[in-house]
Amino acid sequence: MRKAFLTVASLLATITSTSGRPYARAPIDEATLTKVRANAIASAQRSWEVGTLTEALLEYSWPQLSVFNDAGSIPPARQLFTSNYPVDVVKIATDIVEKKPNDSLALVQDGSVGDPASIGFAVILANWTRNDTSDNRFSVAAGSQLNYVLSHSPHTDDGAISHRTEQVQLWSDFVYMVPPFIAYFGAYDQPDAKKWLLQAAYDQCRLYRKYLQDSTTNLWKHIELGSWQDEKLWATGNGWAAAGMFRVLQTIRNSDVSDSFLDQQQDLLNWIEEIVKTAWNYQTSAGALRNVIDESDSFMDTASTALIASVTFRLAVLKGDSSAYISSANAAYDFVHRNIDNDGWLRNTVDPLTFYTPSSSDQPSPEAQSFVLLLEAARRDFQDWVDSEATLPSGGMVINKLYL
Ligand SMILES: *[C@@H]1O[C@H](CO)[C@@H](O)[C@H](O)[C@H]1NC(C)=O
Ligand SMILES: *[C@@H]1O[C@H](CO)[C@@H](O)[C@H](O)[C@H]1NC(C)=O
Ligand SMILES: *[C@@H]1O[C@H](CO)[C@@H](O)[C@H](O)[C@H]1NC(C)=O
Repeated sequence: MRKAFLTVASLLATITSTSGRPYARAPIDEATLTKVRANAIASAQRSWEVGTLTEALLEYSWPQLSVFNDAGSIPPARQLFTSNYPVDVVKIATDIVEKKPNDSLALVQDGSVGDPASIGFAVILANWTRNDTSDNRFSVAAGSQLNYVLSHSPHTDDGAISHRTEQVQLWSDFVYMVPPFIAYFGAYDQPDAKKWLLQAAYDQCRLYRKYLQDSTTNLWKHIELGSWQDEKLWATGNGWAAAGMFRVLQTIRNSDVSDSFLDQQQDLLNWIEEIVKTAWNYQTSAGALRNVIDESDSFMDTASTALIASVTFRLAVLKGDSSAYISSANAAYDFVHRNIDNDGWLRNTVDPLTFYTPSSSDQPSPEAQSFVLLLEAARRDFQDWVDSEATLPSGGMVINKLYL
């Protein structure tokens, strides 16, 4: 059986490569993904892990509600059918709102400005789709979180909001945690503030890039300003930045004011692509990114490899170019696949608390579990797009979807 399978798989690889249609060698099987997903839910505890998990669950299990669904709109319908109702995401949002201290503006108090905001979009979704319209807890909690980020947190003179509460310090992580939340809040039911909030989300991306981009490589440094810095080109940080900017871009594109933000969309696209393109220049022959992207003695890190590969699949769809960096993304996907163990844990991740050492063997990375779901969702959506393009009468015509 096993031999037959391998033969079919390698035959497929040959067929698909000669027809020019890009595929990873083999998709991760459903049973493994089910375990990965369960482990992601079981392990997420810290605020940013929970926020990242909610986004991963939405993209993986409820793609019709994700900002990457270009056939959908933001906001979605108020009343969702039970089969479309993101129960797990709403449950997480409900738990967070119920546990939130009444005197806290932030959803969670953990010393970070940015991390708790990562859960905010799930709270907005829970508010919007709730059946009990007299229940305003979610709306109040999301509004307080926004208020905290915009008006009660330290920032630079030119308006970059700090990732930390105790001092002004900018971390690339922030770009995944905060701008997508600000944009999402704006794209909902905010007729007066919508454009202002979408612009604010874009501006945070612009300012963070201004402070964190390394002028030699174009990749992003991890931490600037404040009492200490981390100027290494941390691969996960580059993934946070690229993936966060992509969520902002998609939120703008799928809002009803996208026509007013064409320049901003082009900028975000360019800034995402500059990270993706540069990162893969450093890809190892195993398909991996190193934990510090440009250091040849840094260890190969499955976590950032998964996150940046997910962005890459989505970038190809957005650009309408089924070959853009896809051989890199496929090699990365295969590398990640090989590193998922029989229990559904991604191995050989960076320790997300030290940034620069591998996770110990008994301590998996919760965020990396979510990155696998983000990667799978992006690969699946890419594959669906390639398949739908192939059935077009003109056969593989390239459509640049950015301005359509
Ligand atoms: C909300 O109400 C609708 C219509 O009664 C129902 O179909 C749906 O299952 C309800 N959603 C939840 C989460 O209870
Ligand atoms: C917040 O206040 C409400 C009553 O206004 C109370 O029911 C709830 O338990 C309080 N929550 C916390 C976490 O203290
Ligand atoms: C919560 O939902 C209501 C509609 O039920 C909407 O008017 C309100 O703006 C929403 N709040 C947020 C923060 O999106």
